Amino acid sequence: LMCKVFSKSCAIPNFQNFIKVIEKLYLKAANNMDGKVADYIPQLAKADPNLWGVSVCTIDGQRYSFGDTDQPFCLQSCVKPIAYAVAVSDYHASTIHQYMGEEPSGLYFNALHLNTEDKPHNPLINAGSIVICSLIKPELPLADRFHYVLDNITELCGREQVGFDNTVFLSEKETSYRNFAIAYYLMEKDCFPPNTQLEPTLDFYLQLCAITATCESASVAAATFANGGVSPLFEHQKRLLGPVAVRNTLSLMHSCGMYDYSGKFAFHVGLPAKSGVAGGLFVVVPNVMGIMCRSPLLDEKGNSVRGIQFCEELVKHFNFHIY
Ligand code: DON
Repeated sequence: LMCKVFSKSCAIPNFQNFIKVIEKLYLKAANNMDGKVADYIPQLAKADPNLWGVSVCTIDGQRYSFGDTDQPFCLQSCVKPIAYAVAVSDYHASTIHQYMGEEPSGLYFNALHLNTEDKPHNPLINAGSIVICSLIKPELPLADRFHYVLDNITELCGREQVGFDNTVFLSEKETSYRNFAIAYYLMEKDCFPPNTQLEPTLDFYLQLCAITATCESASVAAATFANGGVSPLFEHQKRLLGPVAVRNTLSLMHSCGMYDYSGKFAFHVGLPAKSGVAGGLFVVVPNVMGIMCRSPLLDEKGNSVRGIQFCEELVKHFNFHIY
């Protein structure tokens, strides 16, 4: 890294100046009090609305954080692209896509709705992600399947802070009527591989949503996607995801990562991103860096208000919009 810094061949050569702009955008978004904390999962409703953090990690491992970036929080739907990438690393992508589409649904993330072939619209909404869960190492006991994904996420996060929030898991499970309804509907329409059991699959899905990370650790995972699947951290610069898994995941994040705001986000920001109802916004600037934002104040579509503002302003200051 130092060689790259001195020869100015880093992805962001003048990192100090870059960070000064990031700080300005961070502080500006901090004043935005619009939106409200998700309340459909009782435990999430207790989140402090003032929390706000942004961490960046470049593909050469240059890092910086502003605000509340070292407290763990639930990834919720930010885990969906990772679960998908892990599944594609295990199977041919074509096998996965026999079970689901790659088209934005244009609907809310937990809509009880399938595409015209009676399959989930894509793997980044609840229905698709529940089917992804049925495809990850189905031959293993549930404990090993959970461990397998947790282990992958820990590696992607540079072996930094990754955990599990059992309180959120239990709280969500108790009130997950919609996800049960989706899972039964998927069962009815034969969307799962043979012998899939509904309850363990749903438990697995809800457990993955309750995996925690910090902005700091998750920014390393985002940077790994930005770096084509190779960890940006010098200590363990190794390939963690295959190129097809990365390309597919980023394409899907670009078209389907922001619920029914995905088209607007792709238009105005032009970066692959995935939001979660705990307020996470996982953003990839391909070949440059990963960003993890966190603010529990959500707009009516379920996206972090401050996270979106930050991204919109980021692409006004830097030429990151992929078009
Ligand atoms: O299943 C749910 O509703 C939550 N565990 C995840 C929701 C979320 O973050 C929105 N996602 N697309």
